[in-house]
Amino acid sequence: MCTVDLPSWLKNHIYYDLGAVFSPDPLGARYNADNSHAQNLKYLGTYFPRSYSEIQHVVNKVETVTSYYRICSQPSVIRIISVGCGTGGDIIGMIMALHSINPQASFSVVIVDTNQDALDICRGILNFVSQRIGIEINIEAEELANISSKDALEKLACGYSDFNYVITSKYLNEVLIKMPNPYGVFAESFRRCLADDGLMIMVDVACKTDPQYGDDYIPKVMNRQIGKITAAGCDFSTMLPRTCGKCSAHSCENCGLTYTMYESYYSTIENGKETTRTSKFTYQVIADNNLRDRITFTRLW
Ligand SMILES: C[S@@+](CC[C@H](N)C(=O)[O-])C[C@H]1O[C@@H](n2cnc3c(N)ncnc32)[C@H](O)[C@@H]1O
Repeated sequence: MCTVDLPSWLKNHIYYDLGAVFSPDPLGARYNADNSHAQNLKYLGTYFPRSYSEIQHVVNKVETVTSYYRICSQPSVIRIISVGCGTGGDIIGMIMALHSINPQASFSVVIVDTNQDALDICRGILNFVSQRIGIEINIEAEELANISSKDALEKLACGYSDFNYVITSKYLNEVLIKMPNPYGVFAESFRRCLADDGLMIMVDVACKTDPQYGDDYIPKVMNRQIGKITAAGCDFSTMLPRTCGKCSAHSCENCGLTYTMYESYYSTIENGKETTRTSKFTYQVIADNNLRDRITFTRLW
């Protein structure tokens, strides 16, 4: 079993300095835009380690299954935007994963969320991590924005370019009932913000959608929405996970869950005691077709 865990100094910071609390609440944690500080501390103690672990799992897949890090030179300043960053589990996991691949690089990040308290926590942890590991993490911009429509997503994307990584983790499922096709719109809008050889990483939960949205699984919704756009012949496509071989050449449009659910292991601190947990999640790594066609894969999955 491969566990991707927060380093103990980071775990101590979130649980003991910041007061994060392990308190799982699958229904209560479904929507986080209006979280109070106390709710954000519960998110931090319960789901931050999970998001951290999941995105590291994805970067690890890119590194071990594809030639990406061998054929693409990595910049000395890595620019990342995280949309719906929340308390920062995804962007901090991403920075730590990239730091271990390229220890000399510094980071310039844009963090976007509609919850000011979550942005404050995220900024604080980014600054703490920067000091602790001794690398520059420059917060290029912090956007307090409610992004729950196609126009809002496109407007946000229009203001930026040249990111090495565009990431979003567990935000798009929160806007599923507010806008049609958020995964597809996000991919189309933010694809324009990628630098040459940049990657977009979308991570989300693997459970069923909100009953208001219909009786479906989020991995299937993500697959279907991205598959529809990429099948229409645009210039980007899914690089990972790889197609099942039965769907179109560039992505699986409507595969079963077996192709879209992944597990990651991590630990939390519960009543002062470390506990190992498992998460089920779904992801897509999206790239320009020119880049994707240059990548070789060491194995199918
Ligand atoms: C489940 S949390 C994920 C946080 C972080 N990305 C992670 O993976 O741990 C979802 C985040 O999306 C944000 N969010 C939800 N709806 C939003 C909206 N309409 N505009 C901007 N952010 C939103 C919430 O405030 C919350 O911080």
